[in-house]
Amino acid sequence: MKVAIGSDHGGFHLKEEIISLLKELNIDYKDVGCDCDDSVDYSDYGLPVAEMVANGEVDRGILICGTGIGMSIAANKVKGVRCALVHDLFSAKATREHNDTNVLAMGARVIGPGLATEIARVWLSTDFEGGRHGRRISKISEYETRVTGG
Ligand code: RB5
Repeated sequence: MKVAIGSDHGGFHLKEEIISLLKELNIDYKDVGCDCDDSVDYSDYGLPVAEMVANGEVDRGILICGTGIGMSIAANKVKGVRCALVHDLFSAKATREHNDTNVLAMGARVIGPGLATEIARVWLSTDFEGGRHGRRISKISEYETRVTGG
């Protein structure tokens, strides 16, 4: 698995913690920035990560800002991306099993690094269940294709 990871200034320090997890798990990753806690715009990092997932350059994306909300809004604008904003372990597991999410968003001002790291660990290691959940996702993908074309 290859993962793209990005953050704004609000998520910079947590991004570094999650990168340590990716290294621990021997997961290949691409860090798109930001590179320090100087103020930047979350959309400048969230959209490129989401596009890397959508075009197949990476398998998954992880995005971190202050709340995770801006990042999740941006990522979900990219066709083919299913981004979940997650701040608890139950949702981390369920959103992989049921929603086959390919991007994880978290808010560094909402949860601490310990919980965030465990959320990422669970999200990275949980498989999609398929079946009826696949049918539900197909309906979203079909809608997306209908309204955006191609
Ligand atoms: C930046 O101050 C903050 O707005 C951003 O990190 C994020 O929370 C936006 O959704």
